[in-house]
Amino acid sequence: MATTILSLFLHLFLFSALHSVTYASDPPTVYLIRHGEKSGNPLDSGLNADGFKRAACIQGIFGADSHYKIGYIMAPHVNKKGQHRRSYETVLPLATDLGLTIDTSCKRNHVHCVADKIADYDGPGNILIAWRHGKMKKLVRALGYDDPPRYPDNRFDLVWTIPFPYNNITDIRSEECPGLDVPETLSIEL
Ligand SMILES: *[C@@H]1O[C@H](CO)[C@@H](O)[C@H](O)[C@H]1NC(C)=O
Repeated sequence: MATTILSLFLHLFLFSALHSVTYASDPPTVYLIRHGEKSGNPLDSGLNADGFKRAACIQGIFGADSHYKIGYIMAPHVNKKGQHRRSYETVLPLATDLGLTIDTSCKRNHVHCVADKIADYDGPGNILIAWRHGKMKKLVRALGYDDPPRYPDNRFDLVWTIPFPYNNITDIRSEECPGLDVPETLSIEL
């Protein structure tokens, strides 16, 4: 009897140890988004009203109840003058909700720094990267996909899904934020 119970505990122990090891080593999926809308004034490094609306929308889309299971968030380094803070502002409401600190240790042109951070991440959950669209292509190349598309200049709403081993973008979809992202079929060309 005692042996049976001991063996049962041993099995439970081994099973849960194995299980947690599997979980911890599950490589994260990377989700890449652009920062929200901007005023167009080069002296303004922040979001405009639509951009803040998008930040609120992203807070919902990637929230704790979503299937994205975000455990790590990155945005470009913000300097002392607050320059390059747009991506940070875009994911700040979400990060606050999730209780995560946004990693801003990589500068906005240092895509290999981002790739290294992703490779080194061994915490729980997936990785959300908010970045400038002009560096998306280089960033995805640094991750290991040779042939990424250009992130369109006129879009702010696209989510690129890049699962391990990061050699392909397997999904591109709109955030479909209410009041911001009109389905393309409904937009009128003037
Ligand atoms: C990349 O992902 C797309 C979309 O899921 C898929 O159609 C394509 O076959 C993939 N390419 C490679 C090389 O895995």
